[in-house]
Amino acid sequence: MFTKLAEAIKRKPLIGWGIFGVVMVAVFVLGILAASITERRAEIATLFNNKKVEIAGIEPHNELWGTNYPREYATWKKTADMDFRSKHLGNMPEDVLESRPEMVVLWAGYAFAQDYSAPRGHAYAIEDIRSTLRTGTPVADGDGPQPATCWTCKSPDVPRMMQEMGIENFYKDKWGALGDEVVNPIGCADCHDPQTMNLTITRPALVEAFERQGKNIAEATPQEMRNLVCAQCHVEYYFQGDGKYLTFPWDGGFTVEDMEKYYDEADYADWTHAVSRAPMLKAQHPDYELFMMGTHGQRGLGCADCHMPYKSEGGIKYSDHQIVSPLKNIANTCQTCHRDSEENLRKYVYEYQDKALEIRDRIETELSKAHILAKTAWDNGANEAQMAASLQLLRQAQWRWDFAVASHGGSFHAPVETQRILAHSLDRTLQAQLELQKVLFANGVTDVNLPDISTKSKAQEYIGLDMKTLHDKKDNWKQTVVPKWVEKAKGNGRLAMK
Ligand code: HEC
Ligand code: HEC
Ligand code: HEC
Ligand code: HEC
Repeated sequence: MFTKLAEAIKRKPLIGWGIFGVVMVAVFVLGILAASITERRAEIATLFNNKKVEIAGIEPHNELWGTNYPREYATWKKTADMDFRSKHLGNMPEDVLESRPEMVVLWAGYAFAQDYSAPRGHAYAIEDIRSTLRTGTPVADGDGPQPATCWTCKSPDVPRMMQEMGIENFYKDKWGALGDEVVNPIGCADCHDPQTMNLTITRPALVEAFERQGKNIAEATPQEMRNLVCAQCHVEYYFQGDGKYLTFPWDGGFTVEDMEKYYDEADYADWTHAVSRAPMLKAQHPDYELFMMGTHGQRGLGCADCHMPYKSEGGIKYSDHQIVSPLKNIANTCQTCHRDSEENLRKYVYEYQDKALEIRDRIETELSKAHILAKTAWDNGANEAQMAASLQLLRQAQWRWDFAVASHGGSFHAPVETQRILAHSLDRTLQAQLELQKVLFANGVTDVNLPDISTKSKAQEYIGLDMKTLHDKKDNWKQTVVPKWVEKAKGNGRLAMK
């Protein structure tokens, strides 16, 4: 074949030049490709070689990292902005119980019935956990109600303290006992290794969950790491045993049924429902798990592709560290991949959300009713055996509702899976009502008076919460205890003097 080609070239030299040209073009194109790949690394390397301060160990002072990486720091600081609202979400605080008071009944007997606010930017992680009624008013180091485990997803002081105290001792401690140590909101040291600036995992629970599945998280690809740094916190978890050891229930898989099976087998309940007495599960925020089941997760996208898009500034490309709704910046997020108008892209998101919320609202109405039916049955002499099937259905229905709803991005990240879960929740809710009707009938109840739970305060009164006392106590605590924590932290150099 080659001799034939050589002869052909000898006869018509133009063929030779043609081949030469094609090869040159190919080499040129490959060169551009390689350059564009190494360019990002080079940019980062330049950035890296220009660093002004040497950072070693677990450094929770974000402002120190800021001297080396001013663009990332400036955008990270913008997580404190409160200027955006999409149709259903945004970066402002929102009292969710006020707008959906049935949730007070759904969480009766659990701290969430007192206070639940929609999440806002990472910059508020410390302020918000201090302010919520759910953390109570601990004064002495041994005071509850919460374990130190609650700090785990709030601050780069957490890995620092874990290193200092040991992981087990950290979880075992009380939340209030570490109030003067855990003071900086989620920051650079939560996601980065200061030596290389590579993404890194600082939370043991994620590493351990991988290990139990026989996987080594250290082998994750850079693209996977763009999800996994977020999966340190945006996941379903629980506090295992008396040591309150933070654990992800992933051993059997990621679906709502897999995790329910895990909890059932461990005979685990987060609390006993104060109205229905059902053994309940509280879903946290399975953002990562649901995302991985959705279209974008399946195509290998990472959280950072939409929540930390690239930005350009004077020829320097960097990741926008203002982690927020991608709808705030559709041109740099969705439109880097989709040739569709901003209006359409926004519409897709809203349509998925609206459809999921339609079912969610039905569940909240019917499920709160079902808890109240169960209470009526108990009040009229129903026994454990009569109630067992209904209580199981209440647990299952609410676990599914919470799983789908507590993952705030779920209805967009994985619309089909989210709808599936909500459908099963509504199904179990109505089955519970049917079961309970039978129990009520058997105990001679033909009519049930449903209480007025149409506002947050009416619902809280119905479940017996004395909100005024709780608020007064918390306000007083915020004015007396928190300033002492802050003062001590500043004295010890834990917090920058501002
Ligand atoms: C160390 C734990 C932690 C890590 C790591 C983390 N988050 Fe968060 N995230 C939180 C907490 C806690 C909040 C709620 C803060 C509040 O409301 O005070 C939050 C809030 C958010 C919000 C809501 C912001 C708003 O304006 O409403 C988004 C979106 C978000 N995180 C996405 C991400 C993404 C994407 C990643 C990975 C690049 C990530 N988070 C990594 C803990 C974490
Ligand atoms: C919630 C996790 C998270 C936090 C907190 C975080 N980063 Fe990042 N950072 C990322 C991700 C994700 C990338 C993109 C990495 C990639 O694509 O490989 C990144 C990239 C970077 C880069 C590489 C250049 C670039 O912009 O892409 C630098 C430098 C950086 N971050 C600095 C910081 C600094 C400084 C802070 C604190 C003020 C910080 N980061 C906080 C997740 C985080
Ligand atoms: C394809 C783009 C895309 C990717 C990738 C993505 N998200 Fe989202 N996310 C969205 C959109 C869109 C919303 C809804 C925003 C709105 O309604 O304003 C959202 C909402 C959220 C919210 C709720 C924000 C709030 O204000 O309450 C969180 C938390 C979140 N995402 C975390 C994550 C995590 C963690 C990952 C990775 C496991 C991820 N997202 C990956 C597009 C994305
Ligand atoms: C990094 C690239 C990338 C980004 C950023 C991105 N997408 Fe996608 N999107 C994809 C890919 C890939 C698919 C799958 C397309 C296919 O297989 O046909 C997809 C599918 C979709 C679909 C198809 C419906 C579905 O769920 O199956 C919608 C709607 C969509 N994206 C909306 C958005 C919106 C809204 C944003 C911004 C919040 C966004 N995308 C950001 C890459 C991206």
